[in-house]
Amino acid sequence: MQTQVVIIGGGPSGLLLAQLLHVQGIEVVVLERKTREYVLGRIRAGVLERGLISLLAQAQVETRIDTEGFRHDGTVICYDDQHFRINFTEHTEHPVVVYGQTEVTRDLYDAREKTGGTTFFNVEDVQIHNAELDGATRARVTFSCGGTEHDITCDYIAGCDGFHGVSRQSIPQDKRRTFEKVYPFGWLGILSQTAPVHHELIYANSPQGFALCSMRNDHLSRYYVQAPVDDDIADWSDDRFWDTLSQRIPPEFAAKLQTGPSIEKSIAPLRSFVVEPMQYGRLFLCGDAAHIVPPTGAKGLNTAASDVHYLYQALRARFADNDSRPLAQYSATALARVWKAERFSWWMTSTLHRFPQMSAFDLRMQRAELEFLRSNPAAQAAMAQNYVGLPY
Ligand code: APR
Ligand code: PHB
Repeated sequence: MQTQVVIIGGGPSGLLLAQLLHVQGIEVVVLERKTREYVLGRIRAGVLERGLISLLAQAQVETRIDTEGFRHDGTVICYDDQHFRINFTEHTEHPVVVYGQTEVTRDLYDAREKTGGTTFFNVEDVQIHNAELDGATRARVTFSCGGTEHDITCDYIAGCDGFHGVSRQSIPQDKRRTFEKVYPFGWLGILSQTAPVHHELIYANSPQGFALCSMRNDHLSRYYVQAPVDDDIADWSDDRFWDTLSQRIPPEFAAKLQTGPSIEKSIAPLRSFVVEPMQYGRLFLCGDAAHIVPPTGAKGLNTAASDVHYLYQALRARFADNDSRPLAQYSATALARVWKAERFSWWMTSTLHRFPQMSAFDLRMQRAELEFLRSNPAAQAAMAQNYVGLPY
């Protein structure tokens, strides 16, 4: 097979890039290790920055954001039994939109199918060849699917295959450098068919640890509590979860909390991770393949989106104007924004969680950080600008 761009990974990054390139008439083949149903079964955060919403429109993806998306003009921060609100639109003129990532991925798959573009599911043994060579030899991707071996020759490869994918590992070790911070706790999350406790998100730093109140819609709530990452989920009954959550949010919210059976419950580890550079020859990494953030700042999907924006613009320049300079600059351009999202996610996590062995001084630093945020408009503006999404 021949094509212009092979995209490894059929998650949000890969599908969004595929759609944007398709609209520009650039031919794409998508390789996905799982099935569409499996990919859509992943429960993921759902806070969309304006940049991602704009990219979905540029990609001519029909979404239900207008009818099912929830515009949020602010969020609530709680600590020491008090709480305050960060007003996004006051400081940035932009809201965020709450719309499940699963819905984004579903909309992207529906759009992909309408293009008639080639997508292989259940692929195995994906290997990247000749990524490093420039000039005459073209890049190749080999894989097996349904017992058949495939070999695709292409101009460029987009590694959108997530943290456990093959793309990042295909960059020679001596050509890449990684940066990592693993947090000493996890997030225990549940999904329940209950009305959200509040119309906006609530981020709480309590003496017992972090808690987050979020939602998917008026009848579907998403809650998280900080928990030991090696806890056995079987030790967390729904009742224990609701009791823990109630203790960590202010009484006025706890009193309104609607509890009910969990329809999904899991513990996820938290880490910050970046690989530099995000490109090697004709291989370009996007999204979780290149970086991971703790979910505290809701930056995972949104930073994947800005990578896709930069790579899409660079590939369009290359194919439409034969200008390869943006491609050469892709990693530097993407990393400039990636590191700011990493910093914000690290700052939100450090400010809102209780770490093991925090000293009395550490606790005073955390309280001072939150006091400054509560009382200073410039601090609130800085947080709002990061939360709604820094410009591309
Ligand atoms: N070959 C083909 N596909 C692969 C391979 C492989 N070797 N390895 C992984 N994949 C697929 C996975 O099955 C997954 O569907 O690549 C896809 C990667 O998708 P994500 O992990 O969702 O990463 P990304 O598309 O960058 O989206 C980032 O998803 O994980 C969340 O928090 C993250 O919200 C962020 C968003
Ligand atoms: C979610 O709704 O799942 C969610 C919201 C905000 C976050 C993380 C997760 O920071």
